[in-house]
Amino acid sequence: MFKRFRRLRINPNLRDLVQETHLHKTDLIYPLFIKSGQGIRNEIASMPGVFQLSIDEAIKECESLKTLGITAIILFGIPEVKDSIGSDALCEHGIIATAIKAIKSAHPDLFIITDLCFCEYTDHGHCGILDHKHQTVNNDATLDILNNQACIHAQAGVDMIAPSGMMDGMIISLRDALDKAGFENLPIMSYSSKFASAYYGPFRDVAESAPSFGDRRSYQMNPANRREAILESIEDEKEGADILMIKPALAYMDIIREVRDATRLPLAVYNVSGEYAMLKAAQKAGIIDYERVMMETLLGFKRAGADLIITYHAKEAAALL
Ligand code: PBG
Ligand code: ZN
Repeated sequence: MFKRFRRLRINPNLRDLVQETHLHKTDLIYPLFIKSGQGIRNEIASMPGVFQLSIDEAIKECESLKTLGITAIILFGIPEVKDSIGSDALCEHGIIATAIKAIKSAHPDLFIITDLCFCEYTDHGHCGILDHKHQTVNNDATLDILNNQACIHAQAGVDMIAPSGMMDGMIISLRDALDKAGFENLPIMSYSSKFASAYYGPFRDVAESAPSFGDRRSYQMNPANRREAILESIEDEKEGADILMIKPALAYMDIIREVRDATRLPLAVYNVSGEYAMLKAAQKAGIIDYERVMMETLLGFKRAGADLIITYHAKEAAALL
């Protein structure tokens, strides 16, 4: 009998020596949901272990993240007041601008990323300014306010912005606006291939950002499209993105691999709310070994070609690494 593969699997040290892919704490980015107010720590039913936090609570949370060895966070805002253009996101005293300043001064050693979008700030829950006639988001009007939002975050001291609105020409427009405002060194991590996914359901509970009518299919991608996903990411590279991203992750492993092979830029994946919620529900039902399934899933993203992973599992994973 021809023996070929099992020789290298017999000894545990040898298995480690020939392991091809590794997961590190520094690969992980932890999402935080910032709500206005004081002393707020609301757990979300569909996402056990994930909280809406007021800024004071977020500062405490960052302390425990650092203790676990997590070095990067991505912020989402839940403002007190929403309106048709998402004014809270355009104001230097808005929830996220305030959070950036407060977290930076308490934790200067933490890398702060902000999600750049309007769905959490608009009363209609869409990702930009509405085009009522066409029942969709007006691309170019939204580019203008995205530029303003980016400059507000930059002035507040953010370390990197992550535009997630899937507007056309978004990256070149942001790069230009940031450069003109003197923020040439602020990197952009683009949600470059983002699908219109049912896996975002629990996030919209946490972020209070479900669209009040319709859906996001006129700006986010059709889950059926592979070639278009590659074009979207490569376009963002051309427009000046520093890091590309595939979102969601689990049902899009083929896209992660193809984009990895099509670019030399760093690649992030977003292990989204519905993916997290499914594992948590299975854990609660006692039907999987949660920790092993979680680590296997995260390692799978790395093997598929991801360099960075935005994940609600970051704390639990870091504790095991
Ligand atoms: C904002 C945004 C969304 C997510 C990240 N940024 C929601 C959406 O597009 O509806 C989803 C993240 C998750 O599900 O964990 N545009
Ligand atoms: Zn949005």
